[in-house]
Amino acid sequence: MPNLIEGAEALRRSALEALNQVTDEKGLEEFYVTYLAKKGSIPGLMTHMKEAEDKAAFGAAVNKARTEVTAAYEEKKSALGKLTLEKKLAAERIDLTLPPEPMGVGHVNPYRLIIDEVTDIFLEMGYEVCEGRDVETDKFNFELLNVPKDHPSRDMQDTFYFGDDFLLRTQTSAAQAHKMLEMEEKRPIRMIAPGKAYRRDDDDMTHSHQFAQIEGLVVDKNISIAHLKATLELFAKKMFGQKREIRLRSSYFPFTEPSVEVDVSCFNCGGKGCAMCKGTGWIEILGAGMVNPRVLQACGYDPEVYSGFAFGVGVERVAMLRYGIDDIRRFYQNDFRFLKDFPLK
Ligand code: PHE
Repeated sequence: MPNLIEGAEALRRSALEALNQVTDEKGLEEFYVTYLAKKGSIPGLMTHMKEAEDKAAFGAAVNKARTEVTAAYEEKKSALGKLTLEKKLAAERIDLTLPPEPMGVGHVNPYRLIIDEVTDIFLEMGYEVCEGRDVETDKFNFELLNVPKDHPSRDMQDTFYFGDDFLLRTQTSAAQAHKMLEMEEKRPIRMIAPGKAYRRDDDDMTHSHQFAQIEGLVVDKNISIAHLKATLELFAKKMFGQKREIRLRSSYFPFTEPSVEVDVSCFNCGGKGCAMCKGTGWIEILGAGMVNPRVLQACGYDPEVYSGFAFGVGVERVAMLRYGIDDIRRFYQNDFRFLKDFPLK
């Protein structure tokens, strides 16, 4: 009965052809039900087995049809699966090539600009830059600077304490004592030490519990107040303009003797008097003085041989004057609208 075998062959071919026409998963499902499922036409061929003369040949033809069609079906199934996945991925694709939001370039805080400018001026004069430390001991912040435990000037420099002995330094002057003590061989010193200082000050437009200072210290033989004045005059001219003059007013600091406040002639009105200098023609920019012999002594320098001067510049104050900044708190708020007004450097 060759018809049966031919029939199996014909079914195999038509199944493969039908599979070729399938383009989606729904069509594939229908194909499976028609041809390969238990009640599909290919397994259905077996019902004719008893009619077959050459059972072996017929069985082989049926097997061939089943294996080939099943293999082709599996292949189609995985190809269609891949296609579906690709379509899905394409539909859900995120276009990463869209132009990003522009990222702003950061600006340097104006008080850092002032520190850099002052540092440059003193580096040119042969000073070295020293790092102080924010957390100090009572000894370095006060005692070595001639401010003993019960000294009334401590009232003006209350700060944040960690236990009895550690505190946030109230002045960069603490760096003076470190520098002098760290010199094993007592040689001349010319240094500046920029950094933060902390005080329990009223927070208002011009005061903050945290601010920056630049400390200066010169120790050598035969240093006099003339050196102090000439140095600060040169500094004032470089910082505020060649026409500037300075004046020294006597003042008091426990660690300098004599002590002075230094004013610079107003760079806004040239000294005639304006709102910036409050009509006086002068603007106070720093405190200074000759290093107190007691401080030299405490830090291992023989006051009979060595003398020196020291000064402390308030950085935010200079920045406020230089850039016309009205409120000291702006320095610490990191508001980009404020910072972007200053040069990038
Ligand atoms: N340390 C002083 C202050 O904080 C400033 C100063 C420094 C004065 C050095 C004299 C010498 O006000």
